[in-house]
Amino acid sequence: MMNPVEQKSLDQRVTQWFGQARNLIIQRMAEHFEVEHKTSRSDLVTSVDREVEQLYISLIRQADPQARILSEEGYGDDLGDLSGHVWFIDPIDGTMNFVKQQSDFASMLALYIDGQPVLGWIMNVMDDQLIHGGPEIGVKLNAVILPALKNTALEDGLVYLSGARLLQGQYNFPAIAKAALSYRVYGSAGISLCQVFLGRAVAYASRLKPWDFAAGLVLAKGLGLKATLIDGDPINMLSSGTVLVATTQAYTDIQLLNK
Ligand code: IPD
Ligand code: CA
Ligand code: CA
Ligand code: CA
Repeated sequence: MMNPVEQKSLDQRVTQWFGQARNLIIQRMAEHFEVEHKTSRSDLVTSVDREVEQLYISLIRQADPQARILSEEGYGDDLGDLSGHVWFIDPIDGTMNFVKQQSDFASMLALYIDGQPVLGWIMNVMDDQLIHGGPEIGVKLNAVILPALKNTALEDGLVYLSGARLLQGQYNFPAIAKAALSYRVYGSAGISLCQVFLGRAVAYASRLKPWDFAAGLVLAKGLGLKATLIDGDPINMLSSGTVLVATTQAYTDIQLLNK
């Protein structure tokens, strides 16, 4: 394992990597970059996603040579288990927002050791806000420790949902949206999760892949939030799933709607 002093020092080091990644992204946004389709016309990848992933991989390989890496754009390792140090990389989360809006996209890293969440980082790139830390060292927004979250109920807060699940009416998403004070669809798991971490929303639910939720789960644990699959089952860090992160009260409210 890694003690809290070692965790704080790694957190500081990785925070600097995010400065490098942010500079690279902003520089590339001022230039031409390539946009390609992956599995559908709304599933985009850009040359910036690839370049940022490669930057993080080279930094991780220098800092933590034994570690294995699970990353979205294919430059990492094939993982069959979670033993040892495992880093998760989502170089640009919300690539559609990045391409079409040039705002509301994130960059995310997480470190798990033997399957346990240790450190997570989510950067709102255009707002220059990095939420980082973990269960043992606390969670900060840039250099400031985040205050304890209020245990707000679903009916008193905003819920952030994935648009696809809402449109398809799956997993009771329409009922969740109606029961909340109001709902939002943001197009970036990282940005949506940060809204919960900053106390601006009470829950986020979406179908996600491991690199979409890895950092968020570390930070959620550090902030005392509930996080499971939407049906209450535990999250498998090597599989896609419909994930729910919420205040304890909003989590209970959503589980009751699902019954
Ligand atoms: C996507 C975003 C989106 C979520 C999708 C993700 P990407 O990530 O987080 O909000 O609904 O499931 O794939 O592909 O832009 O990194
Ligand atoms: Ca993607
Ligand atoms: Ca993502
Ligand atoms: Ca991505």
